[in-house]
Amino acid sequence: MLVSRRRIARRVQALASEIAASYRGRELVMVPLLTGSMIFLADLMRCLPLKMRVDVLAVSSYAGQMTRSREPRILYPKKLQVAGKHVLIVDDILDSGRTLAAVRAILRRQRAASVRACVLLRKQVAVRMGVPADFIGFDIPDEFVVGYGMDYHHFYRNLPDIAVLHPSVIATGPHGGNSHSRIAPS
Ligand code: IMP
Ligand code: MG
Repeated sequence: MLVSRRRIARRVQALASEIAASYRGRELVMVPLLTGSMIFLADLMRCLPLKMRVDVLAVSSYAGQMTRSREPRILYPKKLQVAGKHVLIVDDILDSGRTLAAVRAILRRQRAASVRACVLLRKQVAVRMGVPADFIGFDIPDEFVVGYGMDYHHFYRNLPDIAVLHPSVIATGPHGGNSHSRIAPS
């Protein structure tokens, strides 16, 4: 296991304190990128004593592929109501940063008053490439991870901890064997 549910819970509390302190007295629009960030969002927003709205955004970045990242596409909604609002994008993983860059650009074009981003995990590739994010949960190695909302071909989101996907799953796909026993043990 890479990050246990206990460590996640502690870090989410701390992140929420940072976010609450920097938005104090302002109304917030949280924009979670579906579907990977939904468990993170649910935990994070319940620790935030701020006046807020939630406007979900569906983005397709991997189109079912694990290794090849394509250009992100906005699937939903057609138009966000963010003009003049303080927007906090919430995402699960910062990898190449392409998804976040595309979403930031869209929100700025819609004249948000401010656009910041909170990611639960940041991979080393994002650190090396200097991809900006304002609130970061954990720095992790460049491995493919699942659990706590994150998927491989739509599976494993329901795992309560964050785990590295076992190479045999990547080789054979998510459908063979007992899926929950195929997560790397370390
Ligand atoms: P980026 O555009 O390359 O930064 O990709 C970010 C998105 O890719 C995240 O929001 C995730 O949905 C997905 N992603 C990247 N790495 C992983 C991973 O290790 N596990 C699951 N999803 C991932
Ligand atoms: Mg995502």
